[in-house]
Amino acid sequence: MPFVELRALLEQRRDVRHFRSQPVDAALVERLLETAMLAPSVGYSQPWRWVMVESEVTRARIAEHHETAKSRAGAHYDGEQADLYRSLKLSGLREAPVNIAVFSDNGATRGHGLGRQTMPETVEWSAVMAIHTLWLAATAEGLGLGWVSILEPDYVAAALQTPPEWRFLAWLCLGYPEEARQRPLLETLGWEQRAPLAETILRR
Ligand SMILES: Cc1cc2nc3c(=O)[nH]c(=O)nc-3n(C[C@H](O)[C@H](O)[C@H](O)COP(=O)(O)O)c2cc1C
Repeated sequence: MPFVELRALLEQRRDVRHFRSQPVDAALVERLLETAMLAPSVGYSQPWRWVMVESEVTRARIAEHHETAKSRAGAHYDGEQADLYRSLKLSGLREAPVNIAVFSDNGATRGHGLGRQTMPETVEWSAVMAIHTLWLAATAEGLGLGWVSILEPDYVAAALQTPPEWRFLAWLCLGYPEEARQRPLLETLGWEQRAPLAETILRR
């Protein structure tokens, strides 16, 4: 693939919080997940676990929990920033047609523990690689994906009754976006700007 095409895909990828009600074909969702599983993983452990949240009751519970967690986190801000924070929509939980809770199976037996002795957290990083791969694949299909992290992991795990060795990583909202955005919404709204490369490099 020419670099310009890859760069264009990376530039197009957005965190989406505004979804159309149009459903997403189940076969397409499956294809996206299979694509996400092409991600690298420590020792080839493939620890990503996808919980397809189909229960309307569970979705409503999580949306309510997110709203409470979002309000609670608002206590960290004051003045104009607090007003801006309150106005931010930080999830499409109530509208997205597809909801996927992503976990890392920290007891994954695939890979036989290879590479995990010194840095056990690499298992979770591997699952995050799959999330990013899914994000890009969704973008390539004209779908939008939103990562919701304003949730208590223990609450999510209890609501979904997941195995104890699974660690909650992300709640993903997937669907067709209301509009295409050129820039991150948080940039457009004046919350944060893109960092220049120089700010992120340390030379020794
Ligand atoms: C680990 C992680 C957690 C995130 N959690 C949230 C979230 O809870 N709510 C939200 O609206 N966006 C969330 N985001 C999306 C970021 O706000 C977004 O990636 C960033 O503003 C840059 O915008 P872009 O993804 O459109 O380029 C999260 C992103 C990452 C990588």
